[in-house]
Amino acid sequence: MGKLSVKHLIGIKNLNPEDINLILDTAQTFKEVINRPIKKVPSMRDVTVVNLFFENSTRTRLSFELAEKRLSADVLNFTASSSSVSKGETLIDTVNNILAMKVDMVVMRHPKPGAALFLSQKVNSVIVNAGDGTHEHPTQALLDAFSIRQKLGTLKGKKVVIVGDILHSRVALSNIYCLQKSGAEVMVCGPATLIPKYIEQLGVKVETNLINALNWCDVANVLRIQLERQDIKYFPSLREYIMQYGITLDILKKLQKKIVIMHPGPINRGVEITTEVADSDQSIILDQVENGVAVRMAVLYLLAGQPVG
Ligand code: CP
Repeated sequence: MGKLSVKHLIGIKNLNPEDINLILDTAQTFKEVINRPIKKVPSMRDVTVVNLFFENSTRTRLSFELAEKRLSADVLNFTASSSSVSKGETLIDTVNNILAMKVDMVVMRHPKPGAALFLSQKVNSVIVNAGDGTHEHPTQALLDAFSIRQKLGTLKGKKVVIVGDILHSRVALSNIYCLQKSGAEVMVCGPATLIPKYIEQLGVKVETNLINALNWCDVANVLRIQLERQDIKYFPSLREYIMQYGITLDILKKLQKKIVIMHPGPINRGVEITTEVADSDQSIILDQVENGVAVRMAVLYLLAGQPVG
C-alpha cells in the first residue's frame, strides 16, 4: 500500500496526482468491502475520530460517520449549536479539550474558509476538511472523480462542465483541482456574476451559454444556488436563473450526445435541475452518495497511517 504525500486533507490543491490515484484505488477496494454481507473491517480499530460540524450537513456527516464505523474506529459526533461553543469557547480550546480525551483524528466542517488549515497548524492531530466555507470540499471532489471513473472508465481526456454558482462553491474549486490533476478538461458555466474573475487563471474554460456547455461536455456537474452565502443579488430573479440555467429533460434530449448528470446535493428540484433529470438514467447522483462512503474510508485509512506533526 502506498503513502500519501500529506499528513492532513485540507484541500485537493495540496495533493499530487499520485495521491489522488492512491485514494481512488483504495476507495475501489473499500467499495468491494462494503458491498459484502459483512461490511466492517478492523483497519482503524484502535483509532478514535471526532466529527466536528459547525455547519449543517446530511451527506458528508453521515458518510464520514459510516466510513469510520465500517473501519471499526471509535466515533464521537460534535454539533456546534449544542456545545460550549455557544458559551464563547474558541475553536482551538474546543478541539484541544476533545483531543485531551485521547482522540486521534478530527473531521471538520466549518463556515470560514481556511478553518481546516488553521486548525492543522494549531493542534496536534490529523485534520480532514469536510468543507470550509467557500474554499474547498476535498472529499466531495474525490467522490465525484471516483464516480466519473466508475461510469466512464477513466478521467483522462473527459470533458466536465461545472454549472451554476461557481463563485460561492467549495465543490467547484475542489473539483477543478481534482479533475485537472486527473487529466480531465474542465469548463465552468453560469451567469457571469457567479463566475469568479480569476477562474481562467486556473486553466478552465468559461461559457455563459448552457446549451453550448452541455454540447461540449461528457459530464455536467450541476451546483445548487447558494442563496445562504449571497449577501447581494447576483441575478434578477430565481425564475430568470431557471430559464437560463435550469437543466430539463427537454434540453438533454436535444443535445448531440447522452451526457452524465451529477449533483453534489442538496438538490433544489425545479431550480438548477428538474425532478425528471435528477431521477433519470443519465443521473448518477445517488451513486455519488454511495461512493462517498468508500472514498471517505480510503481518506481516513490512508491518513491514519501517517505520522502526526
Ligand atoms: N454534498 C454535501 O456536502 O452535502 P451535505 O452538505 O449534505 O454534506
